[in-house]
Amino acid sequence: MKHHLQSLSCTLVLLAGLFNALPLQADKVTLDSSSWGSAEGQACVDCHSKSSAGLTHQWKNSAHALANVNCLDCHQAYQEDVDAIEHEGSIIATIVSPKDCGRCHETEYQQQKGSVHSKALTIIQNRMPALSEHFGSPSINDAGCAKCHGSTVKVRGDGTLDPASWPNSGIGRINPDGSLGSCSSCHGRHQFSKAQAREPAACTYCHSGPDSPDKEVYESSKHGMMYESHKARLNMDSDQWVAGKDYSATVTCVSCHMGAAGNMKSTHDVGMRDAWNLNAAVSTQQYLIIFEDGDKRELSTTEPLPRRGESISKMDGSMGKVKAVASPQRRRDAMSKTCLECHSKGFTNNAMAQFDNVVELFNEKYAKPAQAIMQELYSAGLLTPLPFDEPIEMTYWNLWHSSGTLARHGAAMGSPSMTWKGMSEVGSSFYGKFISQIREAAGQDKGDALIKQHISGSKHHDWLNHPNKANPILGFGQGKVDND
Ligand code: HEC
Ligand code: HEC
Ligand code: HEC
Ligand code: HEC
Ligand code: HEC
Ligand code: HEC
Ligand code: HEC
Ligand code: HEC
Repeated sequence: MKHHLQSLSCTLVLLAGLFNALPLQADKVTLDSSSWGSAEGQACVDCHSKSSAGLTHQWKNSAHALANVNCLDCHQAYQEDVDAIEHEGSIIATIVSPKDCGRCHETEYQQQKGSVHSKALTIIQNRMPALSEHFGSPSINDAGCAKCHGSTVKVRGDGTLDPASWPNSGIGRINPDGSLGSCSSCHGRHQFSKAQAREPAACTYCHSGPDSPDKEVYESSKHGMMYESHKARLNMDSDQWVAGKDYSATVTCVSCHMGAAGNMKSTHDVGMRDAWNLNAAVSTQQYLIIFEDGDKRELSTTEPLPRRGESISKMDGSMGKVKAVASPQRRRDAMSKTCLECHSKGFTNNAMAQFDNVVELFNEKYAKPAQAIMQELYSAGLLTPLPFDEPIEMTYWNLWHSSGTLARHGAAMGSPSMTWKGMSEVGSSFYGKFISQIREAAGQDKGDALIKQHISGSKHHDWLNHPNKANPILGFGQGKVDND
C-alpha cells in the first residue's frame, strides 16, 4: 500500500515558529507582579475562607496563591461586561474566560484561541445538527453534548448566569465576552495545576465513548500499560516536561499532542500534529491553514491548495487571509519528533505506516463504497433526505462513526485490541446488515446492481464471489482453507 504522506513532503511553506525551535519557556507570564495581588483581593480570601473554605483551600495550594495572584485578579470585571455583578463592594464576574486568563498567559491564550478545541461547539452547530436534534433533546444536550463540547453561556438581566447554560466547562464554550472555550476544562479549579493537566484523565473525561474512544485506546496500548506501572516515574511535577529529558518511562496524551520534545515547544493547540481527520466518513489528510489574524482551520488535501495572501472561508463562515500552510507531512513530522526521543526512526516510521495502512484499508474497502452507495440511494430518491429515519442510515452511521472511528483511533495510538474490535464491528455491520439493507431500500435488481458495481466487483470483497469455499472457522470440521 502506498503512503501519500511521503509524496506530499516538503512542498509547502510553513510559518517559521509554528513547530519551532524557540527557547522552551519564553515569557511565561505577560504582566509583572505589581499588577496583581491587591489588598481588595485579600478581602475575598478572608471572607471566602469561611463561606467556601474548600474552594479557598484549593486556591491556597496553587501556584497562583504562591505568586500572590488572588481571587480578584481573576474574577475582576468592568461595569460594562454583561456578566458583571456588584459583590461585597467589588465589581466581579463569576465566569473567568480564556480571555481573562490571557491577560497574564498571552501565549497559551493565543494558541488555544485558534485551536480545534475552541471550535468544538461551532462544529456541532455547523456539521451535524440532525444528530443532536433527533437523538438528543435540550436536556440531553445540556447534560451530555454541552458538557464536552461547551454551552453558549447566557446571562440573565440581573447579571446572574442562566442555569440551563452554566455550570459548564466545555472545551468550546461560548463565553459572554465572545471568547471561546474554558481553561478549566483541563486545569481543574481552583488549583490550576499543570501536573494535573498532564495526566491522561485530564483528556479522557471527554475523549472516551463513541465520538472519541481515546481512553479505551490508550488504556489498551503499550504506552497505557507502562503508564499503569510507571506513573510515579513520570516526573509530572517538573516545571519543564520534555520527552526523553524529564521523563522516559512512557507517554501520556499530552506528550504526543501538546508536549515538548527535543527543541519542539509544548503547545496549547492540540490539533497541530494530526495529519488525518480520523472522524470523517472517509478520512483524508489535512492541511493546516493559518490565517493572518492567528485563526486556523483544516483543509482536506482533496481541495485546491490556497496561496499565501488568498482569502478563503474560516470555520465560522467569515473570510480570512492565508498566512501560512502546514502540509500533512509537516504535521506528521511534528508528531514523530516526540516518538524519536524514545524510539528509533525505523521503528517510528513503521509504526506510522501500519497506522496509515489501516486508515487506507478502511477508506478503500468500506468507507468509499458505502458512501458511494448511500449517495446513489439518495439521488435516486430511494431514501428520504431526512437523516436517521431509515435503518440503512443507522447502519451507515455506526459503520463509519462509532466502529470506524474506534478502528482508526486504535491504529493511530497503538491499541491492537481496539483496532480489531473496531474493524470487526465495521465488517459485521457491512456484510451482516448494510448489504441486505441496500436490497431493502433499492429492491432486489437495483440492489444487486449496486452491490456488484461497488462491492463484489472490488478486489477487497472478492471472497464473496466464492460461495463454495470451505471455511473452517465455523467449526463444522471441513478441514483446511482452500486457498486457490
Ligand atoms: C463578606 C464576605 C465576602 C466577601 C468579602 C466576598 N465574598 Fe464572594 N461570596 C460570598 C458568599 C457568602 C457567596 C455565596 C453567595 C451565594 O450563595 O450566592 C459568595 C459568592 C461568590 C461568587 C459566586 C457567585 C455566583 O455566581 O455563584 C464568586 C465568584 C465570588 N463570591 C467571588 C468573590 C470575590 C472575587 C471577592 C473579592 C472581590 C469576594 N467574593 C468577596 C462572600 C463574600
Ligand atoms: C486563576 C484564576 C482564578 C483565581 C485566582 C480564582 N478563581 Fe474562582 N474561578 C475561576 C474559574 C476559571 C472559575 C470557573 C468559572 C467559569 O465557569 O468560567 C471560577 C469559579 C469560581 C466560583 C464559582 C464556581 C464554584 O465552584 O462555586 C467561585 C465561588 C469562585 N470562583 C470564587 C473564587 C475565590 C473566592 C477565589 C479566591 C480564593 C477565586 N475564585 C480565585 C478562576 C479563578
Ligand atoms: C464525553 C464527551 C462528549 C460527549 C458527551 C459528546 N461528544 Fe461529540 N465529540 C467529543 C470529542 C472528544 C470529539 C472529537 C473527536 C475527534 O476529533 O477525534 C467529538 C466530536 C464530535 C463531532 C465531530 C465529529 C467529526 O466529524 O469529527 C460532532 C459533530 C459531535 N461530536 C457531536 C456531538 C453531539 C451532537 C453530542 C450529543 C448528542 C456529542 N457530540 C456528545 C466528545 C463528546
Ligand atoms: C486541552 C487541555 C488544556 C486546556 C484546555 C488548557 N490547558 Fe494549559 N496546560 C495543559 C497542559 C497539559 C499543560 C502542561 C504542558 C506541558 O507539560 O508543557 C498546561 C500548562 C499550562 C501553563 C503552564 C505553562 C508553563 O510553561 O509553565 C499555563 C500558564 C496554562 N497551561 C494556561 C492555560 C490557559 C490560560 C488556558 C486557557 C486559555 C489553558 N491553559 C487551557 C492543558 C490545557
Ligand atoms: C493576574 C495574572 C494571572 C491571571 C489572571 C491568571 N494567572 Fe495563571 N499564573 C500566574 C502566575 C504569576 C503564575 C505562576 C508563575 C508561573 O508559573 O509562571 C501562574 C501559573 C499558572 C499555571 C501553572 C501552574 C503550575 O502548576 O505550575 C497555570 C496552569 C495557570 N497559571 C493557569 C491559569 C488559568 C487557567 C487562568 C485563568 C482561569 C489563569 N492562570 C489566570 C498569573 C496569572
Ligand atoms: C471538556 C472536553 C475536552 C477535554 C477535557 C479535552 N478535549 Fe480534546 N476535544 C474535545 C472535543 C469536543 C473535540 C472536537 C473539537 C472539534 O472537532 O472542533 C476535541 C478535539 C481534540 C483533538 C483534535 C482532533 C482533530 O480533529 O484534529 C485532539 C488531538 C484532542 N482533542 C486532544 C486532547 C487532549 C490531549 C486533551 C487533554 C490534554 C484533551 N483533548 C482534552 C473535547 C475535549
Ligand atoms: C504515542 C503518542 C500518542 C498518545 C500517547 C496519544 N495519542 Fe492521540 N494520536 C496520536 C497519533 C499519531 C494520532 C493520529 C494523528 C494523525 O491524524 O496523523 C492520534 C490521533 C488522535 C485523535 C484524532 C485526531 C484526528 O486526526 O482526528 C484524538 C482526538 C486523540 N489522538 C486524542 C488522544 C487522547 C485523548 C489521548 C490520551 C488518552 C491520546 N490521544 C494519546 C498519538 C498519540
Ligand atoms: C517517553 C518515551 C516514549 C515516547 C516519546 C514514545 N514512546 Fe512508544 N513506547 C515507549 C515505551 C516505554 C514502550 C514500551 C516498550 C516495550 O515494548 O516494552 C513503548 C511502546 C510503543 C509501541 C509498542 C511496541 C511493541 O513492541 O509492541 C509502539 C507501536 C509505540 N511505542 C509507538 C510510539 C509512537 C508512534 C510514538 C510517537 C507518536 C511513541 N511511541 C512515543 C516509550 C515512548
